[in-house]
Amino acid sequence: MTSIPVITIDGPSGSGKGTITQMLARKLGYHLLDSGALYRLTALAAERHGVNYEDVEGLVRVAGSLDVAFEPTPPGEPARVLLDGDDVTAAIRTETCGENASRVAVLQPVRDALLQRQRDFRKAPGLVADGRDMGTVIFPDAPVKIFLTASAEERAERRYQQLLEAGVSVSIDDLLEEIRARDDRDMNRASAPLKPAEDAQVIDSTGLSIQKVLEKVMAASGQA
Ligand code: DC
Repeated sequence: MTSIPVITIDGPSGSGKGTITQMLARKLGYHLLDSGALYRLTALAAERHGVNYEDVEGLVRVAGSLDVAFEPTPPGEPARVLLDGDDVTAAIRTETCGENASRVAVLQPVRDALLQRQRDFRKAPGLVADGRDMGTVIFPDAPVKIFLTASAEERAERRYQQLLEAGVSVSIDDLLEEIRARDDRDMNRASAPLKPAEDAQVIDSTGLSIQKVLEKVMAASGQA
């Protein structure tokens, strides 16, 4: 164990944790871990290497040998993500890649293969870690644990607006159904299911602006 501080931010897709994690890391000058990106990258790399999602050994090999880099970008933009030197920032954000990530993430051997890589992000002066099991499994000794949530309807609405802005037209009912199915898979899997750590502070962002959520998270982190 180490005394380098970690703030864990767990919660379901669309709860705003990605944005909050970025804002908080920037404010505190901490490193950032987007653990969902590692599952998305594993799914994408498997596809690119022709490894199918039933081949657990193949997936473990892919996860264990991921050649990834996260490059900083200007405030408000997602980090640039490279896989084998290739820019996959947009490719890992598609709905399909999210679905596939959720499938590989149910496999305990894949989770084990990514465990140390995630812990290695803990470097001075500190880390803000975004995911599903940051507070429960990866950094159980984190001094500050946040569980950020929002209603499924609001999360579908946020995703809908994001996709509209990106010029992608989708049905909001389909999005809501996908979000519910993903929640169900993430919360009910045997390995590291999505749930608040016992010592997590739960923040519901339904109806709140991102600024208000950041204030609440800062206060909960003792940084307000
Ligand atoms: O946060 P995200 O949408 O990028 O995550 C993609 C998928 O990866 C999500 O459906 C569940 C999985 N995941 C996980 O199992 N554990 C994590 N710590 C982060 C993500």
